[in-house]
Amino acid sequence: MSCHIRWAISTPLLGLGDRHRHPARRAGRNARRGHESQCGCGDHVANYVEAQVIEWIKQMLAYPQPASGVLVSGASVANLVCLTVARDSMAGYDVRSQGLQGAQKRMTLYASSEVHSCIERAVDILGLGCESLRLIPVNQDYQIDLQALRAAIAADRRAGFQPFCVVGNAGTVNTGAIDDLPALADLCQEQGLWFHVDGAIGSVFGALT
Ligand SMILES: Cc1ncc(COP(=O)(O)O)c(C=O)c1O
Repeated sequence: MSCHIRWAISTPLLGLGDRHRHPARRAGRNARRGHESQCGCGDHVANYVEAQVIEWIKQMLAYPQPASGVLVSGASVANLVCLTVARDSMAGYDVRSQGLQGAQKRMTLYASSEVHSCIERAVDILGLGCESLRLIPVNQDYQIDLQALRAAIAADRRAGFQPFCVVGNAGTVNTGAIDDLPALADLCQEQGLWFHVDGAIGSVFGALT
């Protein structure tokens, strides 16, 4: 699978706090002010601010040059945008034209029981059906249990479902727990699954401190 990293960054998170003087934060606040800009045609400042903020964030996170992103209004919308890309990339047919009626198999995705409720809302909006989101138990550190995850993926494959995505937590809303992201990345590569990380506040603090 080719490695095109895409993500959606929430502009409220970019504007958090004044303690860190990274230009991405200031630009994030400015981007937020220009968020409702009408940028349909012509040359607009908001487009340039967005492109520059995304470049800075790529540098901060050591993302490869072909990575791309978009600024959105909050983490729920960021997750919705990213999971739309995941669904459409992994479906194996043109979801935009045919909708989920075109699916041969039910698509399933996986996250820990600690995942933010906006993931379930995104799954609902995307027409995947909330039951398609498999909530995997956590270990004593509130990280996703990797063995249980493997078992759930294998069981779904045996039952004729189409596992397509794992959602990792980079700072849960309940405890701040961070899943074993490198292990999840390896598992996704091995299993041919899309790897999505919900970073929200935790990952921004992690990147800037
Ligand atoms: C991990 C995580 N994901 C998603 C969200 C949703 O963020 P928002 O309220 O910006 O939509 C939050 C909010 O706290 C969060 O902590």
